Amino acid sequence: MGSRIVGTGRAVPVTALSNQDLEQRLDTSDEWIRSRTGISQRYVLRSGESLVEIAAQASRQALERGGVKPSAVEAIVAGTVSSDYGFPSFACQLQHAMGLDSIPAFDVAAACSGFVYALAVADSSMRAKDFSKVLVVGVDALSTMVDWQDRRTAVLFGDGAGAVMLVAEPGPHGVLGSLLRSSGAASDLLAVRARGIKTTADAEVRRAPEDSITMRGPELFKIAVKSMSDITRQVVERAGVKLSDIALVIPHQANIRIINAVAERLGLSDDKVFVNIDRYGNTSAASVPVALDEALEAGRIRDNDLILLNACGGGLTWGASLVRW
Ligand code: ACO
Repeated sequence: MGSRIVGTGRAVPVTALSNQDLEQRLDTSDEWIRSRTGISQRYVLRSGESLVEIAAQASRQALERGGVKPSAVEAIVAGTVSSDYGFPSFACQLQHAMGLDSIPAFDVAAACSGFVYALAVADSSMRAKDFSKVLVVGVDALSTMVDWQDRRTAVLFGDGAGAVMLVAEPGPHGVLGSLLRSSGAASDLLAVRARGIKTTADAEVRRAPEDSITMRGPELFKIAVKSMSDITRQVVERAGVKLSDIALVIPHQANIRIINAVAERLGLSDDKVFVNIDRYGNTSAASVPVALDEALEAGRIRDNDLILLNACGGGLTWGASLVRW
C-alpha cells in the first residue's frame, strides 16, 4: 500500500510586492534582485490577513480536485515554521478553519524542506496503514520574519500555501520513495530566533534585527546546490530508476541560480525543471506544492510521469521524494 496525490491546491496573500516596490524602500534594484535570485515579485501577508485561511483555501481546492469530502480526511500534516503560536500547532488551527474535528493534526518543522518532510511522514503513516486519506500542506510566511531594512534577506521571501490530498492506493502510482536529511551543525547558516508572526511588510513597527532571519547566503548557496543534487541522485538510485527517466523535477524555489546549478550537476535540461520563482520568491515550505500545482495546471505533468520533488532549508534540512503520477 502506498499513497497517491489525487488533488492539489495553492493560495497566496492578496498583496504582490514587486522589485520596483522594494526599490522604493531599500537600497536595491530590480536588476540586482532578478540577476542574483530570479525573483520579480512575491506575495506578502498584510496585517490582519490570516495565513491559516490562506492554507485552508489551498486545502479546500486540493480536496475538491481530489474528490475527497472534508469529513473523509483522516489526518492533517502541515509543513510550516509560521504558526502564530508556539502552540497550538498550525495544523490544529487549520483543522478548525476547515470545520474538522478530532482527527490528528500536527506540524513538521523543517523550514524550506517542510513540505517534502511532511509528505514523507504522511506517506510512511499510510504505508503503515494508519490512515487512508491525509491532507498535506506546505505553508509559510517568512516575509513576516525578515527585517524589512535588511536588503540581503528582505528581497528573497514571499508567502503562500500549497496543499495535496493523499489517498492510500495499491499499485504503481504515487509516492515511490523519499529521503530526508538534516544537519544541526549548520543551523547558523539560516535561522530566526523568535517564531510566529510579529510584524508584516506593511506594519509601522520594525522587527528587531535580533529577532529577524539571519542568513549566510554564499555558504548556504553552496550547501543547497550540493545537498539537493546529492539527495536527488540517492532517492532515484534507491528507487531503481535513472535520472533520465524523470519527466519533471519540481525543486524548492530558493534562487534561480541554485535551481540552475542543481540542474547542471544532474545533467537535466531546462524543460525538465519547473521554475516559478519569478512570481513568488522563496515561499519556504509552500514553494514545492505551489509549483506542483502550477505544473499540473500548465499541463507539464502527465499520467505515469516520474516526478521528483526536492528541497533544502534552515536546519539545515534537505530531502527529496520520487512520485509516479
Ligand atoms: N540589493 C543590492 N545589493 C545587495 C542586495 C540587494 N538586495 N543584497 C546584497 N547586496 C550586496 C551585498 O551587500 C554585497 O555588497 P558588498 O560586496 O558591497 O558587501 C553584494 O551585494 C554581494 O553580496 P553577496 O551576499 O556576496 O551576494 P551573492 O551574489 O552571494 O547573492 C544571495 C546573495 C542571493 C543571497 C545568494 O548568496 C544566495 O542566493 N544564497 C542562497 C541563499 C538562499 O537562497 N536563501 C534562501 C533560503 S535558503 C533555501 O531556501 C535553500
